[in-house]
Amino acid sequence: MNNTIEKIKQQVINCKKCKLSETRTNAVPGKGNFKADVILIGEAPGRNEDKNGEPFVGAAGKRLEEALKKTGIERKDVYITNVVKCRPPSNRVPIDEERKACQDYIKNEIKIIQPKIICILGNTAFNSMLGGGEITKFRGKTVRKNNQIYFLTIHPAATIYNQKLIQILDEDIERLFSLVDNLKKSLEVSIDIEISS
Ligand code: URA
Ligand code: SF4
Repeated sequence: MNNTIEKIKQQVINCKKCKLSETRTNAVPGKGNFKADVILIGEAPGRNEDKNGEPFVGAAGKRLEEALKKTGIERKDVYITNVVKCRPPSNRVPIDEERKACQDYIKNEIKIIQPKIICILGNTAFNSMLGGGEITKFRGKTVRKNNQIYFLTIHPAATIYNQKLIQILDEDIERLFSLVDNLKKSLEVSIDIEISS
């Protein structure tokens, strides 16, 4: 299994499927536990991620790590990735063409890891993975699509500009892992939104 995640990582590092390959410093493959119960999905690498080749290592990553820590979870317990694996210039939102070019990587990450829950971080992941709009209207909710459960929350970067959102992110991450606990005990979790495929 680790072998196949490693294979995706190598494909991402060498990928030239879209134009972001021309402006990136480093491609940023997903990182973490390939046996994780949770995959967290962000938007795209930022400046620090582009420099280091690792997801969520800048200010937003610190916020995410803090929220995880408050509920007793460490980075190594989860798998963290992005909708697109290369940094868009000036951190603009990735365009459809880039998302489409990159989507097989995330599909394969999910197929290999088979997480109990996929946690969607913010608008871009919500839109790309589930066709959603404003995450603030849906955060805290569970979604089921193709037998996969998703949990929706805000992007950790939003807490940098609005300190009030720290508590929201903390509450959501706590709820996420209580849902995971229930699923591990084979208890039913309530689904707020069903998406038929
Ligand atoms: N923001 C993201 O969406 N992803 C990262 O990896 C870093 C910041
Ligand atoms: Fe390849 Fe994705 Fe990077 Fe585009 S963003 S070059 S598709 S890894």
